Amino acid sequence: MTAFVRNQWYVAAYAHEVGRDLLGRTILGEPILLYRTEDGRPVALADRCVHRRFPLSEKPSRLDGDRVVCGYHGFTYGTDGVCVSVPAQRRIPRTARLATYPVVEQDSFVWVWIGDREPGDTLPPRAPWLDSSDHTVVCGMEPLDADYGLLVDNLLDLSHETYLHGGYIGTPEVAETPITTEVDDKSGVVYVSRHMDDAECPPFYAKSTGIAGRITRWQDIEYHAPCLYLLHSRIAPVGAPGPNPDGSDPHAFHVEVVYGITPSTEKTTYDFWAVARDFALDDQRVSDFLRENNHTVVMQDVVALNVLQKALDTEKPGYQELSINIDTGGLAARRILARMAAENAAPAEAGVR
Ligand code: FES
Ligand SMILES: [Fe+2]
Repeated sequence: MTAFVRNQWYVAAYAHEVGRDLLGRTILGEPILLYRTEDGRPVALADRCVHRRFPLSEKPSRLDGDRVVCGYHGFTYGTDGVCVSVPAQRRIPRTARLATYPVVEQDSFVWVWIGDREPGDTLPPRAPWLDSSDHTVVCGMEPLDADYGLLVDNLLDLSHETYLHGGYIGTPEVAETPITTEVDDKSGVVYVSRHMDDAECPPFYAKSTGIAGRITRWQDIEYHAPCLYLLHSRIAPVGAPGPNPDGSDPHAFHVEVVYGITPSTEKTTYDFWAVARDFALDDQRVSDFLRENNHTVVMQDVVALNVLQKALDTEKPGYQELSINIDTGGLAARRILARMAAENAAPAEAGVR
């Protein structure tokens, strides 16, 4: 299993999922309740009533103004987690309090901080395209029955597109073109690039951009361990001018593919996926096509990773893998995750308590 990295921000939900209904998510094994106050502020509390552990996200638990009323015997909590009412007695035990979690709403996500330290000035990594008038976004979330490390491996090695996603985003050139990898160990960021000069245009890009012929296709990955993955995808007809020195790039189409990778339990993961484009901004048909097509691609990964997890579960301890050049980014990510996990082990694990 890939160790959890605590003291980090994780995507708990899309902002549009958090409202006046109670939403439960399990992150790094911690059950978390999410909702929005009447004035629109997102709140994250422990999702277990202190009385008999009833999940507060489950009906008939409900909101009463900004307070949460447990659906089992009515313990009632404020947004600060403090219990303000119990049945049949005035005195409320001092320990009747839910843990609260720091929350940030940023780039269309609700991020929750998991850890025993406070986040201080640390903010989640950015994905500004998801909340920008220059882009149109389609997005979704798929639960995965696999260790989050398998999703990290998958996303850092896109050569699998040729095989697993043929007919959608995969073409022969993806697997044939070597990658370059750079690692910023200190910041915990892995960069993997693959620039294809003359490639077949897969349906995902042909149908959305309208390009009929062959393309220049750049895949520039930035993985911010442990929780955010960005794929900057640049598509242009072969022969079109490249980006200008000032960074503008009017002859190309750009797609920003964003994944929030949120470990839920040891072998389940939330796979938040979003596709932001800087073209055909108001074309609903392009949005519908990209949503459907990318959902299919995500499900191809989900099915494959669920199968892989089941297979790994039957392996004897110490089983061998064989890594090659394409795995450079994935191996760097594993190394960074192991280091971050060791530095941020839960206090009990680290022997502090
Ligand atoms: S379990 Fe919540 S009030 Fe009893
Ligand atoms: Fe994939």
